[in-house]
Amino acid sequence: MKFAFIIHPLQTRDLSRFATWTKLFPEFMLEKMMLKKKPQIVSHIKGIQSKTGNTTEGWFIGLPLTPDLMMNKLPLEDVYERIIKCCEIAADEGASIIGLGAFTSVVGDGGVTIASKSPIAVTTGNSYTVETAIEGSLAACSMVGIIPGESTLAIVGATGSIGQACARILAPRFGHTILVGRDLTKTKQILKHIDHAKATTSLSEIKKADLVITVTSSETAVLKSSHFKSGAVICDVARPRDVSHKVSKERDDILVIEGGVVKVPGADVDFGFNFGFPQGTAYACMCETIMLALEQNAESFTLGKSLTVKQIEQTKKWSKKHGFELAGFRSFEKALANDAIQKVANYRVFGSSTPLSSI
Ligand SMILES: NC(=O)c1ccc[n+]([C@@H]2O[C@H](COP(=O)([O-])OP(=O)(O)OC[C@H]3O[C@@H](n4cnc5c(N)ncnc54)[C@H](OP(=O)(O)O)[C@@H]3O)[C@@H](O)[C@H]2O)c1
Repeated sequence: MKFAFIIHPLQTRDLSRFATWTKLFPEFMLEKMMLKKKPQIVSHIKGIQSKTGNTTEGWFIGLPLTPDLMMNKLPLEDVYERIIKCCEIAADEGASIIGLGAFTSVVGDGGVTIASKSPIAVTTGNSYTVETAIEGSLAACSMVGIIPGESTLAIVGATGSIGQACARILAPRFGHTILVGRDLTKTKQILKHIDHAKATTSLSEIKKADLVITVTSSETAVLKSSHFKSGAVICDVARPRDVSHKVSKERDDILVIEGGVVKVPGADVDFGFNFGFPQGTAYACMCETIMLALEQNAESFTLGKSLTVKQIEQTKKWSKKHGFELAGFRSFEKALANDAIQKVANYRVFGSSTPLSSI
């Protein structure tokens, strides 16, 4: 069974990766150009082979819309129509399932309407995104010496689809949990399912957290250096990222990792398009779509804003069966060096980057 996955620019200047001349144009003109352009096939994805021997192939379908256009500037019906067009293109190529990349899964009702009108099955990929964010965060905590039961967890974007699921699964393992949302009443609703937790709208509260999972659908970074406690691990699942790029230069006493970077099985995996990851690796949401194709599952899978633990656990089982695994840690688009991890571990024990300087 074959698959497709929708990608789109995270900001207008991403267009220069396809056409350098776009750098010469102001943003409003590029937006006008995007609105006139139809979705199209970006690349053919080949070389995927599961541990079971099953193979699959697929396509990236490019939707020329930014998060700002999808969330703020176009009527929702128009955005849905353009995403459904992507599903039709995928069906014409022979795909039986399509994954909704980045904001195509955030906009509206999280894929429910799109699935009802798509000629092929649809998934947001959010179940495996949650699974890998949790696995990666716990592994990073262990490497720097954070003991969950004695530590504080903060979830930023706790009212969202991914944030809420991460909170429900991880909070029972942590001593205390801080849920950060924009709307206090909505954020307090999540508390109903979680013990030892508080809800807040104040980002300054996360300064108490040893592990921060941040997963808002903000179009700009919401977290900066001053928000974090020394020795903390921050897992930034959001795309575009929630943590300001400046943090990478300003703080060597915290570990900022990207959520959901996964090695895809197959000796010669070729995505045919550079989305900024090392060869043969992909976002977890892409991998969920690929796993469904390898499973010959032509039914829609993760849809809507409430994720189920059953589906999240199912993606974990499939990842083991087919040979998908976390591809080490990445931070601000680069592989995370071991000495960066060691520095943070030292900060936690000695209060400085090296044991000697603490003497
Ligand atoms: N790394 C991956 O593989 C991967 C996979 C899938 C998705 N993602 C990314 O994950 C993020 C969230 O996805 P989702 O499906 O969970 O979205 P969602 O269900 O729409 O939830 C978004 C959350 O962000 C909050 N939010 C929105 N705008 C904000 C702002 N300006 N400031 C602070 N909080 C804000 C929302 O609060 P309200 O409830 O108040 O609106 C909500 O809590 C997106 O960036 C998406 O691209 C990454």
